[in-house]
Amino acid sequence: MSRYTDFYQRSLSDPDAFWSEQAKLVDWNTQPDQICDNSNPPFSRWFVGGKLNLCHNAIDRHLPARSDQPALIAVSTETDTEQVYSFAQLHREVQRMAASFRALGVKKGDRILIYMPMVAEAAFAMLACVRIGAIHSVVFGGFAAGSLASRIEDAAPVLVVSADGGSRGGKAVAYKPLLDEAMRLSRHKPEAVLLIDRGLAPLPLVAGRDHLWRDLRKEHLDAQVPCEWVDSTHPSYTLYTSGTTGKPKGVQRDTGGYCVALAASMQHIFDAHPGETYFATSDIGWVVGHSYIIYGPLIAGMATIMYEGLPIRPDGGIWWQLVEKYKVTVMFSAPTAIRVLKKQDAAYLKAYDLSSLRALFLAGEPLDEPTAQWISDGLGKPIIDNYWQTETGWPILTICNGVEKAPSKFGSPGKAVYGYKVKLLDDQTGEELAEPNQKGVVAIEGPLPPGCMQTVWRDDERFVNTYWKSVPGKLVYSTFDWGVRDADGYFYILGRTDDVINVAGHRLGTREIEESIAAHPNIAEVAVVGVADQLKGQVAMAFAVVKDSAGLTDEAKRLKLEGEVMQLVDRDLGAVARPARVRFVHLLPKTRSGKLLRRAIQAVCEGRDPGDLTTMDDPSALQQIRDLMKA
Ligand code: PRX
Repeated sequence: MSRYTDFYQRSLSDPDAFWSEQAKLVDWNTQPDQICDNSNPPFSRWFVGGKLNLCHNAIDRHLPARSDQPALIAVSTETDTEQVYSFAQLHREVQRMAASFRALGVKKGDRILIYMPMVAEAAFAMLACVRIGAIHSVVFGGFAAGSLASRIEDAAPVLVVSADGGSRGGKAVAYKPLLDEAMRLSRHKPEAVLLIDRGLAPLPLVAGRDHLWRDLRKEHLDAQVPCEWVDSTHPSYTLYTSGTTGKPKGVQRDTGGYCVALAASMQHIFDAHPGETYFATSDIGWVVGHSYIIYGPLIAGMATIMYEGLPIRPDGGIWWQLVEKYKVTVMFSAPTAIRVLKKQDAAYLKAYDLSSLRALFLAGEPLDEPTAQWISDGLGKPIIDNYWQTETGWPILTICNGVEKAPSKFGSPGKAVYGYKVKLLDDQTGEELAEPNQKGVVAIEGPLPPGCMQTVWRDDERFVNTYWKSVPGKLVYSTFDWGVRDADGYFYILGRTDDVINVAGHRLGTREIEESIAAHPNIAEVAVVGVADQLKGQVAMAFAVVKDSAGLTDEAKRLKLEGEVMQLVDRDLGAVARPARVRFVHLLPKTRSGKLLRRAIQAVCEGRDPGDLTTMDDPSALQQIRDLMKA
């Protein structure tokens, strides 16, 4: 048996022994007395009885050995700034932020919503939050007022931390007007707002509600805020993600399970070591940012790079320049970013000393072979695809090189990761497909390993109903992804089973986009589908039926309406969700019972056979879309 097979088997055959071993990677204030309580499935509780603190594990525990070592390296090619915080400096800044939170009335268990660009203060805020046992909810800075408002309403934070603005491609993006609009739209009104003034955009303050970090920081320069020891099962954060229904779900994560899972992944998956530098190019608004910009590397005693900017500005060599400068050993990015770099001169890959770099990890969307080959040839380093979700918080499928070096196969994120009982299920019968090369729904037999979601924030029922299915004798979690497994145990991911699309690694719900478009006064009905795209993986395409079609035979008028719809999505959800095109049709393809045939629309847009259409009501609807796509 290979070393990894043995490791994997042990994680499943005796999970208590396996995870109690992994729990030693973490500093506990009180040791757990039970490894996993699964008496009320699917609500498994990890490391029950244990008390710890995420911020302690990320910062304080490293102070004796590495207080002067870099912890956070904040690089912005937007503002041309670079600041290195040692563990001791990060410790000080986080305490100042924690003291400010307390001064603004935040208590253990309260929520703090963080709507921030990629600046060091965002990291301070997350760490300060878990330091005092508050629960953060980071909202991606690219989301607009509507998305932000629905998250404020659901998380019901007492405090929002934000900034005057971000910057993209050298252009300032104001955040405050979006925040103010979201606060107006939300029925829940947070009592306080803490603002970082970067001097990028106007920052009008609402008296009594808005406070400047600059002022509060000064008041708490010498603050000492000890870590609040929380139960292992205490929620550390919620992070909203899209699913089939319009309303995003607040994925709720615990503290102990997450801390152990991340610490273990740093060793077994990333083969990363204290004192080294980790560079994840994601954003703190996504799960990769939570696990592998902030918590994972710091828990491992590594320096982490937080990067604000584009991968190609000032030029396509910027990331490699940072790898050289900070001797990055482990790098994490998304296939889309590599496809962007692929359009640049390949010489950039050879222009810097990349000898420190051991591997590049890619996740978030399918990694196509030409992209994998290009970056593998260019860097001459292992390229490691890994598959997971906001819900799981850390990889489900990959190659665990920290356990045993193993070959990867192009197109496959690899094998089931230790702790995950990955199954493929027949989508009709729910039965397990045990033979190789059968297509099924990727599922995980419960209990989920530590670090995965505890529940949907304030909606246990939705957690159970959305994700869990009973198959004879057990409960299984559905990933909503199609997959196959080959005879060697390597999985291949074949796309979502639901209405989630993946645009440049950003997970978006087509229903959310549809709801936003349907708010336009002249739109009667709309269908949004994800269509394959060379650069972004997928783009959103909208097909809309208008209420008043007068004048729409005129190209200029059609373009005007299309522009209005796009603007509406920009304002409501943010430019990330903007459809690439909005096409106007007289009818949407539906079944006779009135169900929208999104899959058929998608197939036609991608030039594929739409399959069985016997239940379709009026075939001319699909024909019109086919004609539009050909035009
Ligand atoms: O469809 C799968 C796709 O992204 C979804 C999860 O997105 P998100 O919640 O944003 O979490 C990203 C964490 C890396 C999955 O359900 N996906 C993620 N990684 C891969 C992938 N598809 C193919 N290959 C991957 N490596």
